[in-house]
Amino acid sequence: MTGVIIYSSVYGTGKTYAYRLRSLSKFDLFSYDEIKDLDHYDTIIYIGSIYAGIVKGMRGVFKRIDPQDKKLILITIGIVDPMNKENQDNIKNNIKALVSNAVYSKLKIYHLKGAIDYQKLSLKHRFLMYLIYKKASKSDPNKQSSEEKAILETYKKTLSFVDFDELKKIWEEIYADIN
Ligand SMILES: Cc1cc2nc3c(=O)[nH]c(=O)nc-3n(C[C@H](O)[C@H](O)[C@H](O)COP(=O)(O)O)c2cc1C
Repeated sequence: MTGVIIYSSVYGTGKTYAYRLRSLSKFDLFSYDEIKDLDHYDTIIYIGSIYAGIVKGMRGVFKRIDPQDKKLILITIGIVDPMNKENQDNIKNNIKALVSNAVYSKLKIYHLKGAIDYQKLSLKHRFLMYLIYKKASKSDPNKQSSEEKAILETYKKTLSFVDFDELKKIWEEIYADIN
């Protein structure tokens, strides 16, 4: 059995999780823009950070995968609460829109919480967050989605929800599934 972890990360959270997952699994590890040979692997774990609803880099990699006879796992990382059903549905709907039905039907999806440090954001990302914040702050507090609430609560803060215990639990589930 051969496995690979592919990660996407801008500010390092996804990379940190990916390296920890490698130490648990002993799988090969590549960044999404470095991975070449995908056919070689039976198990492919993509671990990627969410930007504006989209798991960065995922589309291009999953486009190249022939899902037959493969275990496909996706672990998303974001600051929005992944335990909330509405958020999970949003994340899953966005994934569904970006991959083929054949890939989606084989995907096992997990969610982890990430980290954000506004001081470290690029100008482009700071501006994007400002626009999202502005929009969320104008919406009726009684009708705010949990995504909007999360943006309002975390705006301009430095927060880390990185949780290696959660990652370990996910790995144990994956391990049980592939063995
Ligand atoms: C511009 C921008 C957009 C983001 N959009 C989302 C989002 O739609 N949903 C979410 O849960 N988190 C979102 N996040 C939070 C990131 O997913 C989180 O900070 C993650 O840990 C970043 O991972 P990285 O350090 O590997 O790049 C956003 C962050 C930025 C800076």
